[in-house]
Amino acid sequence: MEVIVKNNYQEISKLASQYLLNVVKAKNDAVLGLPTGGTPLGMYDIVVNEYKNKNISFQNVISFNLDEYIGLDENSKYSYYYFMNKNLFSHIDIKKENIHIPNGTTTDVQQECIEYENKIKEEGSMDILFLGIGKNGHIGFNEPSNYFEPYTHEVILQENTIKANSRFFKDAEGVPKTAITMGIKTILSAKKIILLATGESKADAVSKTIKGKITPGLPASILQLHNDITIITDKDAAKKI
Ligand code: GLP
Repeated sequence: MEVIVKNNYQEISKLASQYLLNVVKAKNDAVLGLPTGGTPLGMYDIVVNEYKNKNISFQNVISFNLDEYIGLDENSKYSYYYFMNKNLFSHIDIKKENIHIPNGTTTDVQQECIEYENKIKEEGSMDILFLGIGKNGHIGFNEPSNYFEPYTHEVILQENTIKANSRFFKDAEGVPKTAITMGIKTILSAKKIILLATGESKADAVSKTIKGKITPGLPASILQLHNDITIITDKDAAKKI
């Protein structure tokens, strides 16, 4: 596990974007695993600029998002589909058919999870997967629990996650209570993982991820078992390492 502590958000975003861009430059049909949340926004900004400066093409790139809320469709401005479109996909030349995000409006969640997992397998494996982290150590939407859920599955969001994510909604009432997320084995199947964390509120989760006991009570701790993971944090998130 490699840990890189940067001075500020701009430096984190720059480094993260370099990892993403280098993978695509080395392999034009790279398979990317992508996160939502506030943390990766700076990285997406830089990637969009690189595209606008004609330094890169995403024409053959395939993407898989980590998760999606259940009940929100593509047009809902709170859905992760909308988020990804607004912040990345609508600005670059990735093909619509190469973008994969769990369908939050499916009538058969279980079937959607199986199909999502199969689609990832069909593409081989993700060349690089970016993760944020919840204050409670969740990755994707894998919430603390008493076992590691391996594959893509439905999850009931915890109160603290709903509260943390309510800042993106009009009010906490509007935050869906359930979501579809890649599982832990799905996440670990990526060839390379980059976890981004900023701010003091993540310090506890970051230190437990790096040097805590491996436990489903802190899902990110399982990342200790991956053989190519880089954690990029700012000084605040690194305070308890
Ligand atoms: C959500 C997402 C996670 C993300 C987390 C942290 O719960 N499902 O994938 O890592 O938020 O978000 P932020 O970067 O806004 O702190």
